[in-house]
Amino acid sequence: MKFGVCYYPEHWPEARWPEDARLMREAGLTYVRIAEFAWHLMEPEEGRFTWGWLDRAIETLAAEGLRVILGTPTAAPPVWLAHAHPEILPVDAEGRVRHYGTRRHYCPNSPIYREHTARIVRALAERYGEHPAIVGWQIDNEFGCHDTARCYCRACAQAFRGWLERRYGSLDALNAAWGNIFWGQIYTAWEQIGPPLLTVAEPNPSHALDYWRFSSDQYVAYQQLQLDLLRAVVPPSHFITHNFMGSFTELDYHRLAEPLDFASWDSYPTGYAERSADAFYAPGEPRPAHAYDTGDPYVTGFCHDLVRGMKQAPFWVMEQQTGTINWGRYNPAPRPGTPRLWAWHAALSDADTLIYFRWRAGRYGAEQHHAGLLQHDGSPDVGYGELLALQEELPQLAALSEAPLAVEVALLLDYEDLWALELQPQREGFTALRHLFVFYRALQQLGIPVDIVSPAADLSRYRLVVAPTLFMGGEERTSQLGAYAAQGGTVIMGIRSGFKTPSNLVAGTLPGSLAALIGAEVIAWHALPPGEGYRLITAIPELKGPATVWAEALAPQLGRATVLATYPDGPLAGKAASVSHVVGRGRVLYLGWYPTQAQAQSLLTYLADKIPLRRLAESLPEGLIAGRRGDRTVLINFTEGTLEAQIESQVIAVPARDLVTLIQD
Ligand code: GAL
Ligand code: ZN
Repeated sequence: MKFGVCYYPEHWPEARWPEDARLMREAGLTYVRIAEFAWHLMEPEEGRFTWGWLDRAIETLAAEGLRVILGTPTAAPPVWLAHAHPEILPVDAEGRVRHYGTRRHYCPNSPIYREHTARIVRALAERYGEHPAIVGWQIDNEFGCHDTARCYCRACAQAFRGWLERRYGSLDALNAAWGNIFWGQIYTAWEQIGPPLLTVAEPNPSHALDYWRFSSDQYVAYQQLQLDLLRAVVPPSHFITHNFMGSFTELDYHRLAEPLDFASWDSYPTGYAERSADAFYAPGEPRPAHAYDTGDPYVTGFCHDLVRGMKQAPFWVMEQQTGTINWGRYNPAPRPGTPRLWAWHAALSDADTLIYFRWRAGRYGAEQHHAGLLQHDGSPDVGYGELLALQEELPQLAALSEAPLAVEVALLLDYEDLWALELQPQREGFTALRHLFVFYRALQQLGIPVDIVSPAADLSRYRLVVAPTLFMGGEERTSQLGAYAAQGGTVIMGIRSGFKTPSNLVAGTLPGSLAALIGAEVIAWHALPPGEGYRLITAIPELKGPATVWAEALAPQLGRATVLATYPDGPLAGKAASVSHVVGRGRVLYLGWYPTQAQAQSLLTYLADKIPLRRLAESLPEGLIAGRRGDRTVLINFTEGTLEAQIESQVIAVPARDLVTLIQD
């Protein structure tokens, strides 16, 4: 694994740059990412480019042997541009214009903004495409950040109508696909249709889902505009990527990642533990106590595995927290020693490179309280010390990175399913992401590595595919998963799968065409309030009831599926709760209730023995992350006490906030 840093030379006097570059080299850094918010300095007025400062900054870094990643600066439109063309400004869902003065104040659909984007990106690429110190490009910065995934401006309304015409062809088809006969909201002219702006009752879920799809597509197109411009100019050896926000779900990251050379993400474990944990844990669900100053290693791991799964390939951490941040609730400083654990966790997860954010704490603007490797005055901060300490371990980290990572399990995440369920959760606390995370945690506890992938990914490389909720089932998924199972794969499919059609209407007989895969129909579904549960009798001894949160009754098609669990009493008495169905050389197991983590773990243990799957442990203690790459097994303890794990027949003690590497001979 290699290391780098995000640097803002424009925030500091030029006289300081050589010292910064020297300190970077001495800390063993390879890469420096610069310029992603520096549009104004590159082009202080339309068409007048000022490259001198950037030439000198790049030369200074190159002189110390550092290699440079350039950001296209479109996340920060300059004031002169936004002032001259206020129509580029984004509009929120209540119709309010969002002004300039910070960043991301643009609409990706604005034709004018696209023209200006093309000019600055082309100019930057032409200027530096051949520079020997440049190795790659980051397009824009964190698409969708600061609630910018969906814009509701006039340009968007117009583009949306075009998108709908292409998708549905006629108003009749659109009215039918959206079920507009409900509440009599039939459209009789295209210009009547707009974004789902502030409605009186809940918006039509078909309309809203299409708007979210459309908005995501617009970012895919906007990114493609930049990709095409860069690829036309820069040498093929340069990589092009974008920095994703891990657990952010408002854009279809699978589609955004597809045309990139590799995926990367920005990892702020303590920030995620404070701000994103609600997305992963249901209200009242216990969260790791140690997470406040180490981050929640399961959330961090989920993001690593998701970003690796985007391209089923190694990835980069484009921004890595080094110290306190400014956008959390309490912003605790990471506990000393934690950045080392983060680096190891990333290497274990197949991160190719880790870029620290940021070199030096800034004195200006919104991020004044955000730490860097150096303090505001340029003296080393804790982060720099941590980085120096890591130098000794670089050979072991490199060896770990080179060892093969074998992943036998895929967890399916479909952004459109997430959106459709977000629009109609039906039961408070239910989200597709939390449901996925229950299975993810269970896999982690067993030491079973997993790729989190799109249902459209190549699944043939996995022995087990876990699909907690395939909300919009449909023929394509049915045949794809059917083919996967037919070749010998095992599928776990969960509740609420196949409930919807692609335009977000109810499928009719549930679970639509997926019934052919599970060999059963879903004949009833009950949402259960907290504290309620239905008893279960299961054929898997370790898998015990009750069914909570959500329970479905299944009717196996005669002679096809085997019943694995039933409800002995209660409103669904006598009905099946889980079935297993042989499909070709493999099988599909349907779990008709929302599992607890313990239940998911029991089911996975049962299948891991049966398939079989490699797993490191019976059950790892909470806060201990363990993984194997080639001949190396690494155990990382994020908690404040020693943890013990039984790995095969050995009991290994891992000291607090430390790690152990076992090398097989
Ligand atoms: C990221 C962003 C950076 C910086 C950082 C602060 O989301 O890409 O530009 O704002 O957060 O933690
Ligand atoms: Zn817009």
